[in-house]
Amino acid sequence: MTTSEHRTIDQRLARYRRFSLLDTPPVASGRLTRMVGLTLEAVGLRASVGQQCRVVLPHGASLDAEVVGFAEDKTFLMPIQKFDGLQPGALVVPVDNSKGLVMGKECLGRIINGLGVPLDGKGPLKGDTSIGLNAESINPLHRHPIDQPLDVGIRAINGLLTVGKGQRIGLFAGSGVGKSVLLGMMTKYTVADVVVVGLIGERGREVKEFIDHILGPEGLKRAVVVAAPADEAPLMRLRAAQLATRVAEYFRDQGSSVLLLMDSLTRYGQAQREISLAIGEPPATKGYPPSVFARIPELVERAGNAAQGGGSITAFYTVLTEGDDLQDPIADSARAILDGHVVLSRQLAEEGIYPAIDIEASISRVMPSVVSDGHLKGALQFKQLLARYRQNKDLIAIGAYNPGSDPVTDRAIERYPHLVQFVSQGIQQKAPLVESVSILQNLLTAGQEAGAKAKGQEPPRAPPKKPPGAR
Ligand SMILES: Nc1ncnc2c1ncn2[C@@H]1O[C@H](COP(=O)(O)OP(=O)(O)OP(=O)(O)O)[C@@H](O)[C@H]1O
Ligand SMILES: [Mg+2]
Repeated sequence: MTTSEHRTIDQRLARYRRFSLLDTPPVASGRLTRMVGLTLEAVGLRASVGQQCRVVLPHGASLDAEVVGFAEDKTFLMPIQKFDGLQPGALVVPVDNSKGLVMGKECLGRIINGLGVPLDGKGPLKGDTSIGLNAESINPLHRHPIDQPLDVGIRAINGLLTVGKGQRIGLFAGSGVGKSVLLGMMTKYTVADVVVVGLIGERGREVKEFIDHILGPEGLKRAVVVAAPADEAPLMRLRAAQLATRVAEYFRDQGSSVLLLMDSLTRYGQAQREISLAIGEPPATKGYPPSVFARIPELVERAGNAAQGGGSITAFYTVLTEGDDLQDPIADSARAILDGHVVLSRQLAEEGIYPAIDIEASISRVMPSVVSDGHLKGALQFKQLLARYRQNKDLIAIGAYNPGSDPVTDRAIERYPHLVQFVSQGIQQKAPLVESVSILQNLLTAGQEAGAKAKGQEPPRAPPKKPPGAR
C-alpha cells in the first residue's frame, strides 16, 4: 500500500473518530420496508424490544411506534397511535423514552391516555417525580400480609364478600350486567386515599359518562383516570393498563392506600392477542397466543400490599365472560391468579336486582383473615339460607312445599325478601362496612326469632307467593 493510500484511509477514518467521544452509542435509524395489518417492518434499525421509535412521515408529520419483535435483520414495530400516510422507505428513528412521566400529588384529578398525555385540556402534568412504565417488583416475602378489611361502600360485598386491603379481585360478568356501574360506585364510596381508574378498550362514550356522571367532580378530586377506549391502537390500550398500574404503584410507594379499578382486564388480554398474532405468534387456547397468559399475571401481580408500613393497592379487574361463559380462557386464567371473584348474574340483572351479585358463585379468598368470627359466621348463614331457598324455589313457587317440614327451609322462605333487600343497592346509595355488618347480623337474628315464633305456631302459615327477584 502506498503512502498516499494510507493517508486517504486515515483521513476517511478520522471522520468516524468523533463517535468514540460520544457518551451514548450513535443511533442506528432504519427504513420502513413493509406494513401488514398493524405491523410495521423496518430494516437497519438497531433497537431492543420495547424501545419507542418515531416513524418520520412526509410533511413533517410523525408516528410513534414500539418495537415488538424481530426476525434476522427485520424489526417489527406496532404503532402506538392511530395513523395514516405511511410510505415505504420512511425513516424510523429510536427515541429516548427514558425520561418517564411527571408524577406527583398534583396529578390527582387528571385524565390521561396510555402515554401519559393529558386528555382533559388542563395543561401538562405537574409533579416532583418522574416515573418510568416499569417499577421494581416487590419481593413476595417482604409484602405485608392482607389483614385489614377495606370498606368498599357496597353492602353485599362488605357484608358477604369482605375485601382486604391489598387484595386483587375479579369482577366477572357478561356485557351489560352492571360492571361499570358497580366499579363507579366503588370509586366513589371506597375508603381509600387515592383511586386510579384504568378504562381500557371500552366504549369512548363511556369514558365521559364515567367521569361526568359516575365519578363526578368530588370523586375525581382523589382519582387519576387513564383512558384508552376501544378505537385506540392495541399498544395504547396495553400501555394504558400498565400506566394505570404504575400510577397506583407510585401512590402506594408514597404510603397511600390505593384503589385500582381496571375496566377491563379482558380488553387488556385482547390487546395483547392482537399484537402477538400480528407479529406471528401462533394461537394456542381459543385463539389466544401463550403470551397473553403471561401478561395477565405480570400485570395483576404488581398490585397488592407494599412492605410492612408501606401503602397498599387493592385492585378490582373486570373480566368479560363472553356469552356468560365462565370458562373463557381469560376468565379462567384471571380467576386462578386473583384473590377472589365477584360474579354478576344476568338473571338477577334481568329481575332488576342491582348490583346483580351472584353471592353463591362469588368468593373473597381473604375474607376469613380480615373479619371477626361472628361476621364470618353471619355471612355463611346468609349464604346457606339463600342456597336453601334457591334449591327449593320451584317447589315453593308452585306451592308444593309443605311449610313446617324443614325448619331451615321455612326460615329461608321467611327471610328471602330480606336477603334480596340486603343485596340490592341503588347507585346513589352508600353502605359503609360497619353498617353493612350490623344489618347482616340483625337480619339473621330477626330471622331466628321469626323462625322460633313460626315453630310455635300451629298450623304453619301458607307458603308466601314467589317474591319478586326469586331465582
Ligand atoms: N346499581 C344499579 N342500580 C340500577 N341500575 C343499574 C345498577 N347497576 C347497573 N344498572 C343498570 O345496568 C345497565 C348496564 O350497566 P353497566 O354499563 O355497568 O354494564 P357493563 O357490565 O359495564 O356493560 P358493558 O359490558 O357493556 O360495559 C346500566 O345502564 C343501568 O341501567
Ligand atoms: Mg362497562
